[in-house]
Amino acid sequence: MNRVYSQITGWGCYAPERVLTNADLEKMVDTSDEWIVSRTGIRERHIAAPGEATVAMSLQASRRALEKAEISADELDLIILATSTPDYLCPPASSMLQDELGASRAGAMTLVTGCTGFLYGLITAAQFIETGAYKHVLVVGTETLSYGVDWEDRNTCVLFGDGSGAVVLSQSQTPGGLQSMLLRSEGDGWDALILPGIGSRTELTPEVIERKDHKLKMDGRRVFKFATRVMTDAVLEVLTDAGLTIDDVDLLIPHQANKRIIDLAVRRLGIAPDKVMVNIERYGNTSAASVPLALCEALAEGRIEPGDRIVMVAFGAGLTYAACVWQWQSEEVEEEPILVTNWPVPESLQLMAQEMRTAAWRMQVQARTAASDAAMAVMLPLYAFRKGVKKRLSKEE
Ligand code: UT7
Repeated sequence: MNRVYSQITGWGCYAPERVLTNADLEKMVDTSDEWIVSRTGIRERHIAAPGEATVAMSLQASRRALEKAEISADELDLIILATSTPDYLCPPASSMLQDELGASRAGAMTLVTGCTGFLYGLITAAQFIETGAYKHVLVVGTETLSYGVDWEDRNTCVLFGDGSGAVVLSQSQTPGGLQSMLLRSEGDGWDALILPGIGSRTELTPEVIERKDHKLKMDGRRVFKFATRVMTDAVLEVLTDAGLTIDDVDLLIPHQANKRIIDLAVRRLGIAPDKVMVNIERYGNTSAASVPLALCEALAEGRIEPGDRIVMVAFGAGLTYAACVWQWQSEEVEEEPILVTNWPVPESLQLMAQEMRTAAWRMQVQARTAASDAAMAVMLPLYAFRKGVKKRLSKEE
């Protein structure tokens, strides 16, 4: 039997109409546009209308993806919906989406792995396609975080937004699709990003609501530290597994959680900023919707060509993280060899040259990471000391 590859044949995204700007937030909590932009890169985010929940937004993005793929919903074999904000804890939001779409033959699963959800779903879907088991799988990442955040908590409410992104994955004979992948979880960080009052551990009592434990709590600095470490490591690992270096990447699509996290990874990896998709300024952190929204916008902007190698990377609640190298296909494109070609040398030597190239780049990234870690270890206590002095002086005045 011929090898089967997975191809993204359709994509679509959706963001609610209402836009909440930093200026709007200044009227709601003790914050400023200057703080939000300089600490996160966010200028505005979309907020769902009353009653507009995860399934409704998923439906919009999914219909667009199906239309682009030119297939009908009843051709779908499986729907994977990644979300931490389902319409209900039970039933699964994926089954409600299946019903709304009219995908009568499809299995449906809801995946809860925080902001990493879409990549967990995409990589899982590719396995079903590449084994030949399924022909078409719909992968959706949707989040209604405006429901989950405490609008009086400035530590979280300025960060998040609502939205949805979907792709259709289909069988293809053309080489490409998933080249390498990584799914990980550092479960000892499970309490760093949590909705403590919802679930089987806690009864939803008036006291829980009083404490706002039904709303999102986040240890921002802990997640920040985790994110900056794993973003670089994950990209390094998937590129090494694919026998590539950052120079072979046409577009990096990182989870849009904080522009500072992205910038640090970009510097450490040594990738040109124009090869990095960033749209956080207009959406904020849309969690599981962030990577597919960025992917859709990159496609709309013509930033992805057939044959391009894309790296997608995400991190989030769990604490989970995931990454993959994906080669964009089109039926017209022939397989592009990864190896250094046109050399009159045996394949084993070409492979060795490729491995040496990857190893040299790895060492560069590791050296840059160690240098920036060392700089931060020196700068952070100085920064904290300066801040303490400033606070004391302003109290004395
Ligand atoms: O998708 C995955 C989930 N989440 C993340 O990836 C988030 C990762 N973490 C982050 O992006 C950053 O840690 C934050 C953006 C959440 C916070 O930025 P930070 O530079 O780590 O700020 P901080 O928590 O160290 O707080 C610095 C100061 C504090 O004041 P004091 O204690 O120094 O007086 C905060 O109270 O900034 C204050 N602060 C704010 N000030 C104005 C916190 N939030 C705000 C705000 N406006 N919205």
